[in-house]
Amino acid sequence: MAGLAVNIDHIATLREARKANYPDPIAAAIIAELAGADGIVCHLREDRRHVQDRDVRLLRKIVQSKLILEMATTSEMVGIALDVRPELVTLVPENREEVTTEGGMDLTVHNNIGETIGALQNNGIPVSLFIDPEPEQIKLAHQAGANMIEIHTGVFCEANGNAKSRQAFAKIVDAAKLAKKLKLGVNAGHGLCYKTIKDFKGLSEIDEYSIGHSIVSRAVLVGLDRAVREMRDLINGL
Ligand code: PXP
Repeated sequence: MAGLAVNIDHIATLREARKANYPDPIAAAIIAELAGADGIVCHLREDRRHVQDRDVRLLRKIVQSKLILEMATTSEMVGIALDVRPELVTLVPENREEVTTEGGMDLTVHNNIGETIGALQNNGIPVSLFIDPEPEQIKLAHQAGANMIEIHTGVFCEANGNAKSRQAFAKIVDAAKLAKKLKLGVNAGHGLCYKTIKDFKGLSEIDEYSIGHSIVSRAVLVGLDRAVREMRDLINGL
């Protein structure tokens, strides 16, 4: 059965909208774990627009499943990761103007990514690379020594059933199969919701789904416990 890692960035987004001290992503992490999350994800962005350093440090103390830190490939972030010691680091591209991560890393450009991977792995922290479902990117992730990849599902999710979505999904399937063949762990995420997750039925190559915005959005209306349980049930049924 595939795992569900719940991204709590948007609990922090709501808090930062008023620079208040609520809602607290720490409370959200506890509720998400009690509702069946297999991991808690947070993205500490360079501009600190949602998750703050304090959140990451407190999450490290309270998360009992596993803490997954999404971060850009910068020396500041590597220093924080080495200090916080999450169970997994997912390296993502970061661009200050973007509303959210817009695509996977381009490993043809990030051709020295192996150094960052090595620095983390040498300190016992496994590394995942967030990449588009392109064979070249998967092969480069493997060559760079990543433990796993996270397949960017955003293009498929945005296509939302239109003519492009079939093609986008076929790319995800091929990418997952190639990555498994290369003995990489395979996560998937970005834009997944209660509708699009159902399309992954039978795709046993995916080890874990990383989902944030749709769960937090639903939580505003039905509560976080129910929102996580409903997603957990859908993933159980894949
Ligand atoms: N995976 C990565 C690498 C991301 O950057 C994000 C967004 O922070 C997600 C998964 C979760 O995406 P969403 O919030 O759309 O579920």
